[in-house]
Amino acid sequence: MRTLDVSKIPKPNFDFERFKVWRNQNTKFFIEIGCGVGRHPIQWAKNNPECQILAIERTSDKFEKFERRLTSHRTKFPTQYQNIWAAHAEAAVLLPHLKLSPLVDGIFYFYPNPEAKAKNRQLAESPLLPFLFEILKPGGRLLVASNVASYIDGLARVAIAIGFKPSVATQISSVGSPRTHFEKKYLERGDACFEIEMIKPQ
Ligand SMILES: C[S@@+](CC[C@H](N)C(=O)[O-])C[C@H]1O[C@@H](n2cnc3c(N)ncnc32)[C@H](O)[C@@H]1O
Repeated sequence: MRTLDVSKIPKPNFDFERFKVWRNQNTKFFIEIGCGVGRHPIQWAKNNPECQILAIERTSDKFEKFERRLTSHRTKFPTQYQNIWAAHAEAAVLLPHLKLSPLVDGIFYFYPNPEAKAKNRQLAESPLLPFLFEILKPGGRLLVASNVASYIDGLARVAIAIGFKPSVATQISSVGSPRTHFEKKYLERGDACFEIEMIKPQ
């Protein structure tokens, strides 16, 4: 299975030095890919102050909204939300340059666009998936949610071939608080939403 080769990926515009200072090697480290306008990572950072999260979004308008929300939360609560790093980037370009292997405790990928035309934009088809396996710690988890059941099934099949141990896909309850904007949108319009947790074995 093809993985990402850092020597072939141009270095993105990112403050690597400041990131190195921010990253506390003694804390658990999580990544969210495609965080959209940031509802989940902001809430998650508040609920997990002892951990750090790198939240990545490649679309400019969504990232700008995410940054504005984060700034507004930090202004209201200056001692909170310092454990979140917002990155405007394509995850498959940024992550290989961060040299994280195998240090990551958990990765969230909520509602990626399963209809993406370019095959390498589908996680199951992308070298990003084996790369995520590499950077997870043994026992680390990749959590993926989608409103397309076949997307989750296809992903689980490829993930097993890579070495992940996937759990059974579970349906997300429409009772309770949606974690992301898209989860809210899908549940409100009556879609079934699913998630699967894939574990890197010890
Ligand atoms: C359908 S939206 C979901 C956004 C958010 N997770 C939510 O549930 O509300 C998918 C988002 O993931 C972003 N995305 C998908 N794959 C990505 C990647 N490899 N790197 C960065 N952003 C990604 C897209 O730009 C898009 O904004």
